[in-house]
Amino acid sequence: MTTKKRVGVLISGRGSNLQALIDANQAPDYPAELMVVISNVPGARGLDRATEAGIQTCVIDHKNFASREDFEAELETALNEAGVELLCNAGFMRLLTEGFVRHWLNRHINIHPSLLPAFKGLHTHRRVLETGAKITGCTVHFVRAAMDDGPIVAQAAVTVRPHDTEDSLAARVLEAEHKLYAHALKLVAAGTVRVEGEHVVGMAPEAGQTALFSPPLPDTL
Ligand code: GRF
Repeated sequence: MTTKKRVGVLISGRGSNLQALIDANQAPDYPAELMVVISNVPGARGLDRATEAGIQTCVIDHKNFASREDFEAELETALNEAGVELLCNAGFMRLLTEGFVRHWLNRHINIHPSLLPAFKGLHTHRRVLETGAKITGCTVHFVRAAMDDGPIVAQAAVTVRPHDTEDSLAARVLEAEHKLYAHALKLVAAGTVRVEGEHVVGMAPEAGQTALFSPPLPDTL
C-alpha cells in the first residue's frame, strides 16, 4: 500500500466535519492520516473529538498574538512538528495571510456550506432562503487568499424544501458536508485530482464522483 498523506486539521468550534474525517480515517485503505488537530479557540468541542480518537491536539489562540503573521508562525511550527503534508480547514474561522496561503498552495482545502462561487461568507443558508433558490449545497475547494475562493475539488447539491428554515436547511447541508469532505480529502490525498490552471482536473471516473446529489436526481429528469 502507498503511504498515507499526513494531514493537519484546523478548527474553531463544533468539529462535526472533523468527526467525518476521523470516521473516514478508520478505513484501512483511506489515503490520509490525521496527525494533529489545531484550534484557534480554547475549549472548542472538536478538540474533544480529536482526543477521543487519539489524535494529537494543539490550541493556538489567535488572541495571544500581536499580528496574523505571528499567529501563523506558531501554526507553521505546530504543523511542521507533526510533519503535516496536507492541511484541512474544518470550520476554521480565521482568515489567513497571503504568505501562509502561498506556503500551503494546493496542499490546503476548505469546506464551505454553499455551492461556490455562490453565497461566499457567513449566514449562507439564510441568504439562500432569502433568494428563493431551489438548490444549495456545499463545496470543498483548495484555499486561496480571498475568502471561500479557490479551485473546486467537489460539490454536493442539496434541495431546498418549501418549508425549510435556516436550521433545517443547515442540518441537511451539514449531512452532505460530512460525506463530501471525507470523499474530497480522499481524492486529494490519493492524488486522484490535481490543480491545473486554477481548475481541479485529473478525475479518474472509476475513483468516484466530484458532484454528489442529495437526494439523487430522479431518472425522469
Ligand atoms: C460547516 O458548515 C463548514 O462548512 C463551515 O463551518 C461549519 C463548521 O461546522 N465552514 P463543524 O465545526 O465542522 O461542525
